Amino acid sequence: MSLSKKQIKELSNFACELALGAGDILKKNFDKKHQVNFKGRIDLVTETDLKSERYIVSLINKKYPDHSILAEEGSGKNESTEFRWIIDPLDGTVNYAHGFPIYCVSIALEYKGKILTGAVYDPERDELFRATKGMGAYLNKKKIHVSEESNLERALLATGFSYTVGTDKKNNLGLFARMVKKAQAVRRPGSAAIDLCWLAAGRIDGFWELYLHPWDTAAALVIVEEAGGKVTGIKGNKYSVFNDDILAANNRLHKAMKKALTNK
Ligand code: IPD
Ligand code: CA
Ligand code: CA
Repeated sequence: MSLSKKQIKELSNFACELALGAGDILKKNFDKKHQVNFKGRIDLVTETDLKSERYIVSLINKKYPDHSILAEEGSGKNESTEFRWIIDPLDGTVNYAHGFPIYCVSIALEYKGKILTGAVYDPERDELFRATKGMGAYLNKKKIHVSEESNLERALLATGFSYTVGTDKKNNLGLFARMVKKAQAVRRPGSAAIDLCWLAAGRIDGFWELYLHPWDTAAALVIVEEAGGKVTGIKGNKYSVFNDDILAANNRLHKAMKKALTNK
């Protein structure tokens, strides 16, 4: 079965409604004292991550009871169905827990194994990034495009570090040191979904990271690609949201970043 334009539009609008509603929950609770629980040494979850996820999952279950769900905090059933929602109810939890205002909610819909549509909402800046395969990428109502910077020395990059940075030898610190010397500057905002959407909007020129999860990149993947960006693994290999590493950049810069990251 293939989907009609009307069905695709309905699904994409629903993803945006979910992102906007969950974003309101995040924003309303931002200034409150957070209940923090640790999932690992430094990996944490607040009560608002869970509240946001419950909100999103309950609305999906109500509207599309036979769709499956892959959500970071584990709600919903993840079975093999044609449609699967991939959800990060709060990307940037460390920032959020500290009152550092860079965080978002990320919602993607996969159809037959491919990301069909994605919505990322940043409630602090009231910015909704959205894209559907083949239909362009938007920031609120404006069409967005990646930058044209081709010179690594003039490029503003972003990256991040996984929660295993202190314990895993493959920890991105070496790559970070190398790229800081080669680029104009490297930022570490603390929300991979926002990093990727800012790449889509041309605010940064390139992004890489190790050990992200499907919910960090699924929605932003279609947003970056629809904004004209190139997304692969660090070695230039085909990207899937289950990859161990990601390299995303505008087409002109992608090759230089790949060369710098792989030291070739
Ligand atoms: C994290 C953020 C961060 C990235 C980490 C992610 P979370 O997600 O995206 O920027 O560096 O690797 O785990 O835990 O805030 O949803
Ligand atoms: Ca995340
Ligand atoms: Ca999260």
